[in-house]
Amino acid sequence: MAAPSAGGVPVIILKEGTQRTRGREAQLNNIMVAKVISETMRSSLGPRGMDKMLVDSFGDVTITNDGATILKEMDVEHPVAKMLVEVAKAQDAEVGDGTTTVVVLAGELLAKAEELIEKEVHPALIIEGYKKAAKKVLEIYDNIAIPVSPTDKEVLKKIAKTSMISKLVSEEADYLSEIAVEAVLKVAEKVDGGWKVDLDNVKIEKKEGQSLRDTKLIDGVVLDKEVVHPGMPKIIHDAKIALLDTSLEIEKTEFDAKLHIESPEQMKAFMRQEEEMLKEMVEKIAAAGANVVLCQKGIDDMAQHFLARKGILAVRRIKKSDIEKIARATGARIITRVEEISEKDLGRAKLVEERKVGEDKMVFIEECENPKSISILIRGGTKRLVDEAERSIKDALNVVKDVVIEGKIVAGGGAPEIEASLGLRDHAKTLAGKEQLAVEKFAEALEVVPAQLAENAGLDPIEILVSLRAKHKEGERWAGINVFEGKIDDMYKLEVLEPVLVKKQVIKSAVEAAAMILKIDDIIAASKLETKKEKGGTEGSFGEE
Ligand SMILES: Nc1ncnc2c1ncn2[C@@H]1O[C@H](COP(=O)(O)OP(=O)(O)OP(=O)(O)O)[C@@H](O)[C@H]1O
Ligand SMILES: [Mg+2]
Repeated sequence: MAAPSAGGVPVIILKEGTQRTRGREAQLNNIMVAKVISETMRSSLGPRGMDKMLVDSFGDVTITNDGATILKEMDVEHPVAKMLVEVAKAQDAEVGDGTTTVVVLAGELLAKAEELIEKEVHPALIIEGYKKAAKKVLEIYDNIAIPVSPTDKEVLKKIAKTSMISKLVSEEADYLSEIAVEAVLKVAEKVDGGWKVDLDNVKIEKKEGQSLRDTKLIDGVVLDKEVVHPGMPKIIHDAKIALLDTSLEIEKTEFDAKLHIESPEQMKAFMRQEEEMLKEMVEKIAAAGANVVLCQKGIDDMAQHFLARKGILAVRRIKKSDIEKIARATGARIITRVEEISEKDLGRAKLVEERKVGEDKMVFIEECENPKSISILIRGGTKRLVDEAERSIKDALNVVKDVVIEGKIVAGGGAPEIEASLGLRDHAKTLAGKEQLAVEKFAEALEVVPAQLAENAGLDPIEILVSLRAKHKEGERWAGINVFEGKIDDMYKLEVLEPVLVKKQVIKSAVEAAAMILKIDDIIAASKLETKKEKGGTEGSFGEE
């Protein structure tokens, strides 16, 4: 790009090939991208929403209804699309649910902003109005939220169930909700008056086979590994666990070393020396009192043999993250130098056992020293089913956690959005000029949630919105869409319950995303690095084809 200088000679500012879009054109372009992304997500909102099938560049197929997963797998290119993916991911990390809603709402907020931009309202004013509106919505949500006891299992189960009912696993939502609630309550801790839930204490393992109903909560840690040697015990009571992040092998030198061996005796002596070293390692471990060895790296055949002779159960090549989990669960110290092992480094568990799960064997470390360490072993007919079950259970764990922490819920099915939308319209009347316009647009945008829930259930969104507004004006706060019977119902009575934390986070994230996108009025894109292929492959500047 060039700009004329005082002397009329052009001054080069941007590199050749750089594309620049500015002002309204840039804004409208970005809004269009956001609208397209949110269009794509809309059809999967709610229990009657559709699933998406995503095929990655390796041909691997994912079938899911999870907003964050859909966006992640879509592998989008445009920077605005990427921003929305980040928003969905952040929503997922923050509260674990509402990822579809956040993207749909952000898209709608931008679509409404577009109408205002066309009416010559400056984006900065829209952003300001939107932020005010969001603040008001959060207030409204706080006002209508229903306080619940954080350990009320019945309520928590309904919360978990609502989050799962829109997923592939909905048929087993009852059963899986129970597991999610048990799991969260097991790891929940009371700290200075409130509750703390660390979901890192819940390990999720999955194994194809059997059915979703065979999914189980396990008191301890499950490893998708088997005992390394057939001569080892398969079950150890009162386990004392040595946890190693090194290998039980003789280190090979980094360099090629040549060894001159001139006689069979020399060869034997050499082998014996290696053997002695391994034996010594095993002796050390046994002397410390360990009867289980869990190793992040390899275990030499010879070492396996010695361990088996000592009656020690050993597992090798355990993931680093699992090693850390086991350390927390059993109180074991991770040992890097076997020579230094002592009894106080060992972790404790009542039982370590290898069991057959489906076609494979898995190792269960149960009743660990830290009772807060648990696992969920997911079963299901196919890989895709267990994968989607994992995502759904994670959502459920998160929403239950949200309620345990915050202790406040709302009913769903579009009810809170209508309530907030009406509240906002009243609020807008107290404002003046363009700000009022922006707040009104926000109120309209919120209605995208009930409208889309209606549409996905095959209902007429306009009709539904009209009657929903009327009901809410009459004071029916929880009037929402019964998507299964195709009519308006009291969502609280229908037990469609959600954490208010999720609803609030949806508003915060959607506004943030919309504001971020509206603020951009200049897109300066460097030209793509040219690859050989695009050049036609004749210049050979990289010296390869
Ligand atoms: N039984 C139900 N009847 C009516 N609406 C429901 C019911 N269950 C859930 N909903 C509504 O569906 C919406 C949530 O849908 P969904 O779970 O597909 O999307 P999300 O939570 O935004 O995204 P994700 O779960 O993919 O992170 C919420 O507005 C919720 O109130
Ligand atoms: Mg959901």
